[in-house]
Amino acid sequence: MARYNKCFVYCLIISSLYAVARTQYVYIPNATAIIKDELFLHNTSLSNKTMRDCTWRPVNEKTVCPDPDVKYILYTNKVNREVIDITVTDWLRQSSWDSEKEDVLVVHGYAGGDDTLPIAVLRDAYISNGSYNIWMLDWGPISQPPCYTAAVHNMKAIAKCTADLLTDLRQQGLRTEKLTCIGHSLGSHICGLISRYVHFRMHRIIALDPARPLIPAASRLNSGDASAVQVIHTNAGHYGEAGRSGHVDFCINGGKIQPYCENAGFDEQLCSHVWAVCYMAESLNPQMAKRAEPCSRRCPTGPRPGHRIGIPVMMGQFTPLATTGSYCMYDKNPPFCPLEPGAPGDKRCCLKPIKTSTVASGRRRGH
Ligand SMILES: *[C@@H]1O[C@H](CO)[C@@H](O)[C@H](O)[C@H]1NC(C)=O
Ligand SMILES: *[C@@H]1O[C@H](CO)[C@@H](O)[C@H](O)[C@H]1NC(C)=O
Ligand SMILES: *[C@@H]1O[C@H](CO)[C@@H](O)[C@H](O)[C@H]1NC(C)=O
Ligand SMILES: *[C@@H]1O[C@H](CO)[C@@H](O)[C@H](O)[C@H]1NC(C)=O
Repeated sequence: MARYNKCFVYCLIISSLYAVARTQYVYIPNATAIIKDELFLHNTSLSNKTMRDCTWRPVNEKTVCPDPDVKYILYTNKVNREVIDITVTDWLRQSSWDSEKEDVLVVHGYAGGDDTLPIAVLRDAYISNGSYNIWMLDWGPISQPPCYTAAVHNMKAIAKCTADLLTDLRQQGLRTEKLTCIGHSLGSHICGLISRYVHFRMHRIIALDPARPLIPAASRLNSGDASAVQVIHTNAGHYGEAGRSGHVDFCINGGKIQPYCENAGFDEQLCSHVWAVCYMAESLNPQMAKRAEPCSRRCPTGPRPGHRIGIPVMMGQFTPLATTGSYCMYDKNPPFCPLEPGAPGDKRCCLKPIKTSTVASGRRRGH
């Protein structure tokens, strides 16, 4: 039976939580902390900034690109991390970009950044798979607490500048017709907005619980934004968009509250919203990817998604491009949380310390 010193584990986690909460840019490379950290970044009382520090970017014709506070970082494997230098005309050819690999553009949400949770879990899952060029859009400096309203406003300027960049990279050889834009929360709407500024058709958008609060109708992601718009709902109606917004909408555990977030000792809404990223990270591994079944179109809005007969599809990276409609998946375990030390997954997606068969062997292998 697993018997570990609870205080040892929890106190360690709690103390690292507080250390993390004080700095806004956090990278936890070895899964020593968990995504719960993200919840503290939303705690405005921990931020030194006030509303007066918020920056508002001018929109449309007045947008100035490149934006000095937006960075694009290319990862092609475990060692290459390259920040795009927009002033270099043939940057792509000089980079480690691999034309054989699939391109993904990953966009974080409010209070995020390249090296922040939860998006770092997804980035690292793509990196460790090895078959992708991962483009991280880092708009951290203009999306920090307490400036949510400003962050929503800034999405358009970011989308415009990113569209300019993609147009440029396309001329340099990037095959935008195969590009997937993956956004979490506000990042989902940025993916949608990019498509409105580019002169080519966006191939695919995967929206991880697209943000709901204060999103103007004109900026909201919809199925017109790409050839395939695939949406994963985990906190519909609260932090997440309440209605269907893609060609295919996945409702996880009903789409509103995730069971593993209930009574987890912190904001279950935010927990549900944030864990959408772990489902996506999990989906990169075909053995772990969850399958969802067709269900009532009332999902995620309706009271109880009814059943529909049909063929299940894989949720996330391998969702077929032609899939349409509502799909439901039920599972009460936190996604991508390894079942035991060394098992596939990412410890940062766990809500509780992983059980080890014997305390001693677990600790020795761990650190
Ligand atoms: C994290 O990983 C690096 C190398 O990947 C290692 O040198 C370091 O000791 C690890 N830190 C912890 C706390 O495990
Ligand atoms: C925010 O952080 C402060 C200081 O650590 C804490 O007292 C407060 O309870 C937190 N609020 C929320 C909503 O987590
Ligand atoms: C935030 O304020 C604390 C003191 O209240 C200070 O020590 C810290 O350096 C400040 N952090 C930033 C990022 O300005
Ligand atoms: C990595 O991604 C490729 C292509 O998407 C997939 O076929 C492969 O199974 C993945 N490998 C692992 C270990 O997840």
